[in-house]
Amino acid sequence: MKPVKIGILGLGTVGGGTVNVLKRNAKEIARRAGREIIVTRALARNLDRERICDTDGIALTADPFDIINDPEIEVVLELIGGETLAKDLVLQAIEKGKHVVTANKALIALHGNEIFRKASEKGVMVLFEAAVAGGIPIIKAIREGLSGNQIEWLAGIINGTGNFILTEMRDKGRDFGDVLAEAQALGYAEANPIFDVEGIDAAHKLTILASIAFGIPLQFDKIFTEGISKITREDVEYAEQLGYRIKHLGIARKTEKGIELRVHPTLIPERRLIANVDGVMNAVLVKGDAVGPTLYYGAGAGAEATASAVVADVVDVVRALTSDPENRVPHLAFQPEAIVDIPVLSDEDFRTAYYLRLTVEDKPGVLADITHILADHNISIEAMIQKEPHEGEAVLPIIMLTQLTLEKEMNAAISEIEALSTVTGKVCRIRLESLK
Ligand code: NDP
Ligand code: HSE
Repeated sequence: MKPVKIGILGLGTVGGGTVNVLKRNAKEIARRAGREIIVTRALARNLDRERICDTDGIALTADPFDIINDPEIEVVLELIGGETLAKDLVLQAIEKGKHVVTANKALIALHGNEIFRKASEKGVMVLFEAAVAGGIPIIKAIREGLSGNQIEWLAGIINGTGNFILTEMRDKGRDFGDVLAEAQALGYAEANPIFDVEGIDAAHKLTILASIAFGIPLQFDKIFTEGISKITREDVEYAEQLGYRIKHLGIARKTEKGIELRVHPTLIPERRLIANVDGVMNAVLVKGDAVGPTLYYGAGAGAEATASAVVADVVDVVRALTSDPENRVPHLAFQPEAIVDIPVLSDEDFRTAYYLRLTVEDKPGVLADITHILADHNISIEAMIQKEPHEGEAVLPIIMLTQLTLEKEMNAAISEIEALSTVTGKVCRIRLESLK
């Protein structure tokens, strides 16, 4: 059979890694796909830049339409990033009848509904395994491997840069800014690293995971999002003293009232496997009603780890080139007409436990006032540490872990606690999940 020709939009970390993997493993990949796969054209902005891959045999161009309009190219890989140009090019490639593989979570989370509609009209595939958790085949696992289950919840460390920063800060006491700069140099971070640090990248990924897990539309705007920028070294230490690790988690949970979708730093018991996922590694825990909890672990970012997922999608496209479009695996796991609008809960309706850190005056009765407020809001305390004041200081930190409670009650309690004259500054609150 004739080789399948592909064009790559973007030849940076992921594009370069993809060329390397496709070339190095060409024979093995062809044995799996049933046809040889060759990259004939690739797009970059700066054609003089040194590449991480060998570009022999690939026509480099700065004009995307050299790829989109090439009738011989059957599959286009979108590895540019961002949403404006990427969306435009993906829609144009689909219009030309080309299959698309992308690693772009922002694109899928924000414009996936429109892109998949258009792809279905044109009978082409749009695959995006690399968009979530780098090299871990989590999309395939949920969309295909767990399709016999009702997914109850999932929770994952789904940003490699953020996990790398938290790990280096905890293990080596390194500065936030320093570690972020290293993550950028290693090619882990987004073009705008605020996306990694403030949880936006994880929220894009959770949007996708929730959609394929629960059969709901992609709804990025409904995700509650908090990043890691406010985590202090002392919170990391106090959490450890209490037997917990702080990880940045994306959590999607189906409840009777609707679906919780949230991304935030979370205390996790240190004995859980996921609490020990360090560095750029990612892990996703998925709880299905039939299978129980399952855990997926691997590199969450980096050139070849991500390329592994991109190439797997290319192989899937090539294998399916001749199959009936009606009988392919649906883009979002559920048949398009079976996608349902289960309500996404507001953050006030989340149910979780909390770590609280307060700074209080060293006076009798202070603790009683605080516990009274918590009790008024039906919040039970699970554990508490009261530190000695530092020498010469009249204030001391109190750290509390609570049992499960409604976020609405916790918001009200925190407002009342912050209004006490004996409490100084803001209460630091980090959510806590036992992930049992
Ligand atoms: P890079 O910045 O390394 O690469 C982007 C590539 O796109 C570069 O080759 C750049 O050209 C090209 N490009 C950008 N804008 C234009 C333009 N206007 N015209 C032509 N070419 C353009 O990004 P990554 O490879 O890191 O990321 C690509 C995608 O993969 C993103 O969506 C990202 O979120 C996603 N992703 C990244 C992972 C990672 O570990 N890095 C992991 C999983 C997903 P030039 O090289 O000349 O500047
Ligand atoms: N910037 C992303 C991360 C890349 O660090 O997880 C992988 O999606």
